[in-house]
Parts: sequence; structure tokens; C-alpha cells
Amino acid sequence: MPEMETADIETDLSLFKYDNLEQLPDAYRELDEAERRDRIEAAKEELGDDLVILGHNYQRREIVEHADFVGDSYQLSVEAAEADAEYVVFGGVTFMAESADIITDDDQTVILPSMEASCPMAGMAEALQVDAAWAEITRAAPDADIVPISYMNSYADLKAFCAEQGGAVCTSSNADDVFEWAFEQGDKVLFLPDKHLGENTAHRLGMEESIAEWDPWDPEGKDAEEVAESDIVLWDGYCQVHERFREDHVEQVREEYDDANVIVHPECRRDVVEAADVAGSTATICETVAEADSGETWAIGTEIHLTNHLQRWHPEVNVVPLCGEACMDCNAMRQIDPNYLTWVLEELVAGRERNVIEVAAQEAELADVAMERMLEI
Ligand code: 13P
Ligand code: SF4
Repeated sequence: MPEMETADIETDLSLFKYDNLEQLPDAYRELDEAERRDRIEAAKEELGDDLVILGHNYQRREIVEHADFVGDSYQLSVEAAEADAEYVVFGGVTFMAESADIITDDDQTVILPSMEASCPMAGMAEALQVDAAWAEITRAAPDADIVPISYMNSYADLKAFCAEQGGAVCTSSNADDVFEWAFEQGDKVLFLPDKHLGENTAHRLGMEESIAEWDPWDPEGKDAEEVAESDIVLWDGYCQVHERFREDHVEQVREEYDDANVIVHPECRRDVVEAADVAGSTATICETVAEADSGETWAIGTEIHLTNHLQRWHPEVNVVPLCGEACMDCNAMRQIDPNYLTWVLEELVAGRERNVIEVAAQEAELADVAMERMLEI
């Protein structure tokens, strides 16, 4: 079995995948918002067609307003693939910028303004752990064809591993299709790292009876024999922003507003998704609110910046956060500070590239195979 590049578990498990972190120079720390906006726009004008700025739906207003394209992770990967600008500045988190680097041509440069924007869930499936799990599960089910599927919210080494083992990548907007494809290729799926998206997808496909969980941190929670009997094995990873939502938040919002409609992201727990009216990617959430009639109430179960954008973009709709003040922002997304954006753009104008994301060639080639499989499904 080809193995992922592994590491010593004590020393190499880390939140930040890139150690070439460059911190913001002092001169950029206290910029006034109006001045910053003018400087960003001036740098954009100077760079012209050489630059494209992509912004995930969870980015702050001050980033989203400068982005050439705002969307969910799937849409941003398509935009990155189609971009022909020399510089792709990514308002998002590390795994998204890695994916953009993999998908763009070799002569394009992907910049993540702050290298601290690392999604904790992506860090929950480390190469060493995945290698160990794969060895145990395949040993327990020697005759099974297990197809690994990695959520887009994962690092490039995991995507590469999936490609090597005949699997693919999926996002929250195409998980159903990718699971169906996987069951045409083999007879079991190992899904990593988000157990909630995996469980919600299994339910949509009517396969909820045949799920097992694999907790890489718990020696008691890993029973390879039991797992080998299930059709779907879910890695025990999760997003803390989405795990916060509970079923009683849905009940409370329905009590507060008679006509409340509830839409949540599929990274939410199963009971929350079941209680909601709609579950879907951040793009689905945006489209649903955009299509709502004036005066309708929509309670949003996802990261708070997106809820705030929807309130600004659609003042005719009553957009409310599903758990009120308790709704969280994503700490990783928040690291993309507009001061950092100003700095990286002005450095590009001066001919200097800062905080470049570059996936190692062999890993990028394989990860690309897994992402291309997704784009073709
Ligand atoms: P989307 O793919 O729906 O944009 O979600 C990305 C994400 O990070 C959700 O937490
Ligand atoms: Fe990661 Fe959750 Fe943030 Fe999405 S919202 S980037 S899954 S931590």
C-alpha cells in the first residue's frame, strides 16, 4: 500500500501547516478603514488583470467587499481553475488556498494573506493517523474495496492519499453525488474528516443503518472488526462553529417567529439538520435567502459573518442567527485581516510575493487527481 508522507506524532502534529509565516509589519497594524480601502483599491487597479481576489462566504465584510468573486468552497475551486491571473489572493483558509494552488497553472501564484488561517477541522485528520487507520481497517476487511473520500476541508496530503487509494474529494454541495460515485467504484466508504457531513449524507442516501465511527484519538473507540462490517466509516472530526447548534435552537426560533424557516450547513449535527427546513452549502444558504419573499423569516445555522452579510445583502428578508448571540465566527477565517490584505497587495505592486502557498509537486499532482475526479462527477 502506498503511504502518505508521515511524521512523528509527538513533534509533527501542528495547527499551522506552513512554517514560512510572515507576520504583518508594524506599519500596517493601525490603518484607518477609509485609508485602507483606498489603498487596497489602488493596489488592485495597479495590478489589473494580473490579480484576482477570491473570498469565501465566511470572510469579513472588509474582505468580501474587495473580492472579485465570493462563494462557497466548490465555487471558489471552480473560479480558481478558471482564473488566468498571475496572482490569486485567497480570502479563506489554508486548505482552500492549497486547493487553489493545486488547481491553478504552475506559473500562477496563490497567496493566503495570513498564514494563521488554518481550519481546525482540517487538522483533525493527520497523515500519521490516517495511515494507521487505513492499515487497521483494510486488515480487518481484506476482501472489501474501500473508497476513501476526503471533504474539501482537508490538507493536500489527505487528498493525495484519497487519489492513491482510488478515492476522491467532495464539498458540502456535492457529497451525495461523490458518495454515490464511490459506491459504484467499491463497496465501502471511508469519509474524512467531518463526521456530521458524512452522517448527514448517509441519511440522505438512506444508508444510516450502516455507519461506524473511527475516533483516531481514542484507543477504545476504534474497533476495526466492527468498522469493517459497516458500509460507511466516518472519521471522528467536526467543526466547532457548527457543532454549537442544537435542536432546541431550532425549536426556540420557531417559537419566537411563527413563520420561521430554518436553513443550516450540513456540518451541523444530524438532529439539527433533521429539524431544519433546508440544509446546504454556504452557496445554497445564499441562494435560498436571495430567493426568499420579502418579509419572510430565515434563521441561519452557520458561521456568523455569512449571516451578517445576508442581513446586509437582503434587508427585505428577516435574517436571524439560529442561536442568537451564541453564534460563532470562524477563528481561522477571521485571521484574514484587511490590514494583511493591504500588505500583501502593496507588496505585489512592489514586486514582492508574501505568504505564498505552494504544495509540494508530487503531493499536488495526486491531490489534483482527487479534485479532478470530483469536478468530473
Ligand atoms: P462551504 O463549502 O459550504 O462553503 O463550507 C466551507 C466551510 O468551511 C464550512 O465550514
Ligand atoms: Fe473550518 Fe469550521 Fe471554519 Fe469551516 S467554519 S473553515 S470547517 S473551522
